[in-house]
Amino acid sequence: MFAERLRQARARVQDRLDDALAFHPDLPVVQAMRYALQGGKRLRAFLVIEGARLHGIPVEESIAAAAAVEALHAYSLVHDDLPAMDDDDLRRGQPTVHVKWDVATAILAGDALQTLAFELCCDPMLGARRVELVAALAGASGAQGMVLGQALDIAAETAAVPLTLAEITRLQAAKTGALISFSAEAGAILAGADRRPLTRYAEALGLAFQIADDLLDVTGDPAKAGKALRKDAGAGKATFVSLLGEAGARARAAELVDEAQAALAPYGGRAEDLRQAALFAIQRES
Ligand code: IPE
Ligand code: IPE
Ligand code: MG
Ligand code: MG
Ligand code: MG
Repeated sequence: MFAERLRQARARVQDRLDDALAFHPDLPVVQAMRYALQGGKRLRAFLVIEGARLHGIPVEESIAAAAAVEALHAYSLVHDDLPAMDDDDLRRGQPTVHVKWDVATAILAGDALQTLAFELCCDPMLGARRVELVAALAGASGAQGMVLGQALDIAAETAAVPLTLAEITRLQAAKTGALISFSAEAGAILAGADRRPLTRYAEALGLAFQIADDLLDVTGDPAKAGKALRKDAGAGKATFVSLLGEAGARARAAELVDEAQAALAPYGGRAEDLRQAALFAIQRES
């Protein structure tokens, strides 16, 4: 069920993103945007769609929000890979945008992917509460969310003393957690429902997801990951693995998956796909 639902979510979100970019086929910046939107696990889109389904919202009425978070995420990756950030040449098994085109095109494609995300969030199909969704996406993406996390991550590279566990948790909660929380809560926001169980779910899932990313960097197979690995330690990145060690990080991630799944108790059997998604977050190889 989970695998099939994930496959369907991937296909639908790709269609919606293709629709949104059906203009200026020959313009390099638009080509770069389309390129950056290919591939990926689409976990954030899946969380939007399943979180919405949990509240009785059919996929037609949540797909624009799923596409929005993937556009925002794609922008964050294009900029994350830039020479002035992580300086990476490979993403999702392909050359990064600044390698395939150039740095200026990558900056502009990222900028335009970000505005595209907000345009998608304004799709009338999302209903009367979409303004709240726009506000939530802005909060999750900006200087109190993903951008804050990226800034803390860069600052940590040159910090005089290693970060504490509390500091790393705050960094990761912003860097990766904020957009994952937005994704899991979007359906509850659109439905005007209590989002607290999903907030707890996403907080635990987001941390587990980032621990898995940090573990992949140390132990993963680059061919499967589709991006350069073994980079964090050399770059002085503050990660859960640098602090807890490999076994400690693995144990913490498993604990967090249990917490995430327990948070779904109020939804009973209807949240089974979200339960599976929490496990997927740490069992993935890419
Ligand atoms: C990678 O995100 C960057 C992090 C926030 C850890 P994903 O692992 O979700 O990347 P894709 O979208 O599947 O390529
Ligand atoms: C990036 O984190 C998170 C973003 C906000 C894009 P990483 O730098 O750890 O992601 P990868 O390992 O390059 O995918
Ligand atoms: Mg980075
Ligand atoms: Mg990176
Ligand atoms: Mg990483």
